[in-house]
Amino acid sequence: MTTHWPTSALGFGGDYNPEQWPPEVWEEDVRLMTEVGVNIVTIGVFSWGALEVADGVFEWTWLDRVIDLLHRNGISVDLATPTASPPLWLHAAHPEILPVQADMTRRRPGARDGWCANSATFRRYALRITKALAERYAAHPAVVLWHVSNEIGGGNGRCHCDESLAAFRVWLRERYGSLDNLNRAWGTAFWGLYLTDWDHVPAPRGGEAHNPALMLDYDRFCSDSLLDHYRAERDVIREFAPTTPITTNFMVGPHQDIVDYPRWAEHVDVVANDHYTIPSDPLSAQDIAFSADRVRGMTPGRGPWLLMEHSVSSHAWHTVNRAKAPRELVRDSLGHIARGADGALFFQWRASLRGAEQFLQGMVSHAGTDSKIGREVRELGAVLGRLAEVRGSTVEPARVALLFDDEAGWAFSRGLKPHKGIDYGDEPRTWHRALWTRNVLVDVVAPSADLTTYDLVIVPTLFLVDDESAARVADVAQRGGVVVVTWMSGIVDHENAVRPGGYPGAFRDLLGVRSEEFYPLQPDEHGRLDSGATFHSWSELMDATDAEVVARYAEGPLAGGPAVTRRAVGSGAAYYVSCALEPASLDEFVGQVLDDAGIEPSGGGAGLDVVRREKNGTTWIFALNHGEQERRVAATGVELVTGETIDHELVVPAREVRVVRESR
Ligand code: GAL
Repeated sequence: MTTHWPTSALGFGGDYNPEQWPPEVWEEDVRLMTEVGVNIVTIGVFSWGALEVADGVFEWTWLDRVIDLLHRNGISVDLATPTASPPLWLHAAHPEILPVQADMTRRRPGARDGWCANSATFRRYALRITKALAERYAAHPAVVLWHVSNEIGGGNGRCHCDESLAAFRVWLRERYGSLDNLNRAWGTAFWGLYLTDWDHVPAPRGGEAHNPALMLDYDRFCSDSLLDHYRAERDVIREFAPTTPITTNFMVGPHQDIVDYPRWAEHVDVVANDHYTIPSDPLSAQDIAFSADRVRGMTPGRGPWLLMEHSVSSHAWHTVNRAKAPRELVRDSLGHIARGADGALFFQWRASLRGAEQFLQGMVSHAGTDSKIGREVRELGAVLGRLAEVRGSTVEPARVALLFDDEAGWAFSRGLKPHKGIDYGDEPRTWHRALWTRNVLVDVVAPSADLTTYDLVIVPTLFLVDDESAARVADVAQRGGVVVVTWMSGIVDHENAVRPGGYPGAFRDLLGVRSEEFYPLQPDEHGRLDSGATFHSWSELMDATDAEVVARYAEGPLAGGPAVTRRAVGSGAAYYVSCALEPASLDEFVGQVLDDAGIEPSGGGAGLDVVRREKNGTTWIFALNHGEQERRVAATGVELVTGETIDHELVVPAREVRVVRESR
């Protein structure tokens, strides 16, 4: 793994698509970039059709010119392989590289992501252009980072073509060794679906009620196939650019992913993420925090990582795409920086006039540079320049971990389930929100992570968990920490088989509870506990076999039964929450749990987000005010956004961000 960081200051720039513009505009672009402090741009992401104009016919002139122009002006290049968007001539010659959806319809040419990770033909063409690109530009001094494809799996995560099915069978053979093992693990006795030949292994095609173990393995296989493709391109680049970092842009958020990012992270030199706020989300600042806390949680050494893409303003893919409010652009970018990003890059530099994303704004917006976006971009560039000293620092260690797992999410969501209307990401995000609101920093980590440094570990709806991870969670309580496990956790093992003897199987002993049956609620139903707390979506018939009852169900079929429990474990404690607490009740409960764990919020709270970054004994306090009222926080030192000296109290105006380098 190559570890050096691509930029000397914090990265600032974005996707740059000069091929959409005549050369006169390039000169203006580069002039404007230098004016606002852009130091790195991503080029080539979707340029395959502009670089390989016909099969084996390469056209480099424009890219040569653009890279030289950027270099002359001191702007570095994150050079992308263009393979996310195969050209139309390739689709015409080889329509079989287009992904096939679960309903067995093949995607049509005419958009991006038209490739299957298991297509040998696609791989051949993709590696040929990758090699040609790497051969030509690896030694160019402007190229400081390589960017493989784009948001891999984003539009082609699950291909159901025959070539994929054949590869799935090979993958299963390697994993299980024999059909006996596979039959046992998948439980093919159910419906008599015994496998007697590897060639009979089905894929989860169509809308049938497939075996959940098969579906989970298909998800794992697809993630592995996409990773394999990433590695194939990466290895070609590596031959020509042995020391330049290579990455690909993840899409990490509070939702289950298409690929298993924590398991991918070790294969990239720089963990890079794309994050887009959702216009209908009333708490997009927390969405940013969740995403950044999760990216940091999967980055070796907890950082730094790179924000490869976010939006300057309105997006184009939602039903209603509102523009960002004044100051939101600056605050969003610094929200990622506060949580460990060493650069904030956008999609894209200049807003396109034509093409599918013509209404997605750019750093140079449709209105031009004399605009709200233009002014905030300029200001952000200046602020990031003043924050250069922060580069290479890491975020203060978090005392709280929240477990989030893609495999658990896949297992949670697919197949027949007691409640089909819940997204895996809902509960983790709700718990994170309660902590974020109190300004408690959280690392969002995979269950395989080292948990030994945390005082509080939250395990929300971790449907699937293996024995080792469950044991690591139990150790947290044994050594004096506090663990909170919620409903729908620990239900199945690594093979997606239910753990018998009562729910939540993997955590039953730790929690001292035994749950017998699920009582999910209808979408408009709500329930009440005797503590006054209210809940939605979920409840359980359970026993506190070896735990103290904190709250009981107050009504309905479970009235009088335990709902929330606490068990003293070693010098720590383990809570079980068997229902989905409504936000206000959850907030209150989180307050009790934090007390129990001896964690005090570190300042801020209620709209003021305070995070510290540290390096060699220096601390920078990031204070982000997401509210409409001025806020204050204790700090002494130099404030880097305004240059003011702060003596004991930092004032953060409404909607603004301040960063104080603390005096010792
Ligand atoms: C990202 C993608 C970009 C652009 C952007 C805005 O997901 O990587 O190419 O499409 O979204 O929609």
